[in-house]
Amino acid sequence: MSKLDEGLAKAGIAGAQKHLFVCIGPDCCDTRDGEALWEFIKQRVRETQIRVMRTKAACFRICTGGPWLVVYPDGIWYGGVTPERFERILQDHLIGGEPVREWIAARNDLKTEES
Ligand code: FES
Repeated sequence: MSKLDEGLAKAGIAGAQKHLFVCIGPDCCDTRDGEALWEFIKQRVRETQIRVMRTKAACFRICTGGPWLVVYPDGIWYGGVTPERFERILQDHLIGGEPVREWIAARNDLKTEES
């Protein structure tokens, strides 16, 4: 297997059903809180073996109310995500298919009228 194929496999692209983007600060939250959330997300994704890709970002240009978690293709933006909140998002939304409505700050699945 080539290095590229290994990277694509490691990213989980072929089987992914969702893609999680996480802003870990530094302006929307304390970077230590963001890093703690990121480590928790990695751990829980690994433990549950849900078919998601995950990407750590340094800024979504909101810069307040973080850490932020965006779930695509749903286009759901959760703010103020803690490890405890992520656990509920994991159970209800990522596994159960029901977004946690009270924590949704914004929603845009980026679909155009043609798609
Ligand atoms: S630092 Fe998180 S949105 Fe800007």
